[in-house]
Amino acid sequence: MLENLQPAAGDALIALMGQFRADARNDKIDVGVGIYRDEHGRTPVMQAVRQAEQRLFDEQQTKAYVGLAGDLRFNAATADLVFGDAVARQQDRVRAVQTTGGCGALRALLDLVAVSRPDATVWLSDPTWLNHYPLVNAARLKVAVYPYFDAVTQTVNIDAMLACLSQLGPADVVLLHGACHNPSGTDLSDEQWLQVAELAAQRGFLPFVDLAYQGLGRGLDADAFSVRSLAARVPELLVAVSCSKNFGLYRERVGCAMIVHQQAATAQLAMEHLLVVLRGNYSMPPDHGAAVVATILSDPALRQSWEQELHGMRARITDLRQAVTAGFQQQLGHDKFAHIGRQLGMFSLLGLSNAQVQVLREQHAVYMPGDSRTNIAGLQHSQIARFVEAVAAVAR
Ligand SMILES: Cc1ncc(COP(=O)(O)O)c(C=O)c1O
Repeated sequence: MLENLQPAAGDALIALMGQFRADARNDKIDVGVGIYRDEHGRTPVMQAVRQAEQRLFDEQQTKAYVGLAGDLRFNAATADLVFGDAVARQQDRVRAVQTTGGCGALRALLDLVAVSRPDATVWLSDPTWLNHYPLVNAARLKVAVYPYFDAVTQTVNIDAMLACLSQLGPADVVLLHGACHNPSGTDLSDEQWLQVAELAAQRGFLPFVDLAYQGLGRGLDADAFSVRSLAARVPELLVAVSCSKNFGLYRERVGCAMIVHQQAATAQLAMEHLLVVLRGNYSMPPDHGAAVVATILSDPALRQSWEQELHGMRARITDLRQAVTAGFQQQLGHDKFAHIGRQLGMFSLLGLSNAQVQVLREQHAVYMPGDSRTNIAGLQHSQIARFVEAVAAVAR
């Protein structure tokens, strides 16, 4: 059977991580993989997470299965975090189900779309996080691309985006990055979110928000403006939440799939189908990471500690962005890379060609994917001068 398989395409980013590990140069720099690092190059376990884990270790009585929908405390607390005050008014319109990371939420909700409308087309931003493609393909839905990022002005090409969305209808799903667009670091303004919400309500396409960086862009509430403004204006909405980055729980695989529908009965029906999808996949979710998040969000002291640490991470990213921009300005004498200082979240695109990225890797031991997506949050201040020099050398 298996000898019939053709060579697999593999994942370019995972291959890049392998190359980085195998590189013996000790001044190598990894701005490829999408994880936050501190000034020592570590991806720390957050203080509140450690304390919550200790509490769970001391108090947990059983390892019996959690239910199909996962930890109900986690689902409610995460819905609160995402929808804020709005959730109180919307309780019967919102359903939330624990998933294995943000990817698990994306995949489960795409599968749900496929159950409801197998002929649907999923629209992805140009560019988008590369893993959106295999996720949509795995759900056997059609993929299309809407204009989003203008690499010359390093801003959202809002006119082209809205022109494209204004052609869509009820058979279309539009996947939107809720905050900290990956890879461009360039988000819609609040006003532009309202324009998208207006169009979705008019045209009847289904907005689907991928919220993987809440708290790492402008702040916990401001980063949820996307979801909240849509939820208040459209009849139906899907949201895939990841707790990988903002809780630093990457390997624990914690996420949440959310459904909002104007009719509570339809929201409930959709959730029941979502549970069927999950049952036919991994069946029961893991417990630990979601229990950690639920513990933190329901305890005022742990929550305060988490919010403070998250604030510190966000401030560090802003600081790194300023330092990288200043470094380029000093090195090049112009502000071609000033956009890095203005953008949000972990990533920016440097606008290098694939060939330039290869030279960076081979001659300067600086690792990034072929589209020159750079994880600013993966840098240490001590690396910035060398990083800037290397990029300036290939960009000349
Ligand atoms: C845009 C985007 N969506 C979703 C995710 C989901 O991540 P995870 O499945 O690790 O929670 C990521 C992680 O890199 C991401 O960048």
